[in-house]
Amino acid sequence: MIILGIESSCDETAAAVVQNGTIILSSIIASQMDTHCKYGGVVPELASRMHAEAIVPVVSEAVEKAGIKLANIDGVAATRGPGLIGALLVGFSFAKAFAWARRLPLAGVNHLEAHIYSLLLMETPPAFPFIALVVSGGHTNIYHVTSPHTFELMGQTRDDAAGEAFDKVSKMMGMGYPGGPIIETLAKTMDPGVIKFPRSLLDKKGFDFSFSGLKSSVARYLHDHKIVTPGDKAQVAASFQAAVLDVLSTKLMNAARFKSCKRIGISGGVSANQTFATLLTQRAEKEGIQVFAPPVSLCGDNAAMIAARGTTMIEQGNTCDLNHDVFSRTRI
Ligand code: KG4
Ligand code: ZN
Repeated sequence: MIILGIESSCDETAAAVVQNGTIILSSIIASQMDTHCKYGGVVPELASRMHAEAIVPVVSEAVEKAGIKLANIDGVAATRGPGLIGALLVGFSFAKAFAWARRLPLAGVNHLEAHIYSLLLMETPPAFPFIALVVSGGHTNIYHVTSPHTFELMGQTRDDAAGEAFDKVSKMMGMGYPGGPIIETLAKTMDPGVIKFPRSLLDKKGFDFSFSGLKSSVARYLHDHKIVTPGDKAQVAASFQAAVLDVLSTKLMNAARFKSCKRIGISGGVSANQTFATLLTQRAEKEGIQVFAPPVSLCGDNAAMIAARGTTMIEQGNTCDLNHDVFSRTRI
């Protein structure tokens, strides 16, 4: 089965062609980063307009690169939510029109489930059941995934997402957007143990996160200390990153122990952080737990993961019609 996937929930217009839910024939991502970084974050109105400009060329390129004809496409999958409403509408409306015109089934994909599916697109994917962390600029959710269709939400952030904290701390130090890669690179040069930033909710039994206290603590530190040299910034970056990664890894390990689960997968933009993957793997190995992290091309927003999730939905007959609408928030 050949599925065309479309993603437009935030600041990437993406299209991909995936065969049988696992073989990526093409995956095109048009990033709007250069536009939004001038404003230090995503501007929703600009995002919608840019999706509208990019959607047709991006889909055409995905079909062309896949080496297929439109007639070979068996179904369409597009992100239905959560995300920015205006941005989602562009991709989902395009998908509705495409599916209707060609009489194809349409899957309205949950973006968070799709991030979990990026793990299933790996060369060696995790077997079920596994613990999955979706960690991005908008979400920090832990799931117990027991089948291709069963995602039990175990915990989530009560305030900021981990990626959002990276972005805000980078902004506070006068550095660019997105903050994650900048902070990770800077942190590599420094000992992470020098400044002791708080690890919120680590003393609590549950699996929820909170990063706003850490963010305020970094703001206070920057206010109280002279941060002038690149070395000063690197020290804050390393200590901040260590606090985030410590919390993420500890909660994931707790979740795996709680469910007696021997596999952990990480996905979403922050999972591109190599320091995170290394730290988690070190901790997990000690308890015989395997860690799965997708290649960087599948960590951030992409349409291959949307097509992969859409394939299983279409196989199950879980499809949309023209009356279905997009949604901005959800819980799975
Ligand atoms: O999944 P994604 O591309 O978009 C959504 O938010 O859905 O994630 C983007 C987030 C941003 O907050 C960015 O700072 C963060 O992922 N990020 C990272 C790294 N690369 C991207 N955070 C930490 N370390 C990284 N290397
Ligand atoms: Zn995402």
